[in-house]
Amino acid sequence: MYSVVQFVHSYWAYLVLIVLVIATVNALSKFFGKKEYGGKDMSLALFTLITMHIQLLIGLVLWFVSPNGLQAIKANGMGGLSSQARQLAVEHPFLMIIAVVLVTVGYSKHKKQRLSTPKFKKIAIFYTLALIAVLAIIPWSQWF
Ligand code: HEM
Ligand code: HEM
Repeated sequence: MYSVVQFVHSYWAYLVLIVLVIATVNALSKFFGKKEYGGKDMSLALFTLITMHIQLLIGLVLWFVSPNGLQAIKANGMGGLSSQARQLAVEHPFLMIIAVVLVTVGYSKHKKQRLSTPKFKKIAIFYTLALIAVLAIIPWSQWF
């Protein structure tokens, strides 16, 4: 169970990173370029949202089955974790949940806007913040 979930979470992360970067760059460039919002932009924003939600679900399951999640906290106590172990068990899940919330809020807000530039603006702001959070807390050293 653990190795399968860990494997899926690890590889799904590539997709998350790729679509989040593409959706963010797309929104930023079309916001500043004052481009017209179209079906492709909607699909990209939605696909990013779904990809992130799926990763959230996998991550939550992983947190319960991984020796580096809840079990690490139970075994060592919060104070007994090394900073690296705490990153995986606490800071990574916490900041990633915030990133998913940012994408969800940005997606919802952009949907409610009628004009192109405000639509791109919502995506640009919220997806950029989410991307920063994701880049900051991906456990790079153990991922590769
Ligand atoms: C822990 C699991 C999940 C949580 C807590 C969660 C939470 C949410 C929330 C709060 C919204 C509302 C956004 C709004 O205000 O419109 C939403 C929308 C959505 N979620 Fe999730 N989600 C989860 C898993 C998933 C999964 C596994 C999928 C896809 C397979 C998914 C696909 C979607 C879609 C398509 C929308 C609606 C987008 C739209 O409004 O058009 N979510 N989710
Ligand atoms: C949504 C964006 C997320 C991304 C891009 C992401 C990415 C990653 C990556 C790249 C790893 C390292 C995998 C490896 O060692 O090969 C990892 C590990 C981990 N993630 Fe996430 N993650 C996300 C969300 C979450 C969430 C929401 C949770 C929990 C609520 C979570 C829990 C974990 C845990 C517990 C590990 C350590 C697994 C282990 O080594 O046993 N992740 N994540």
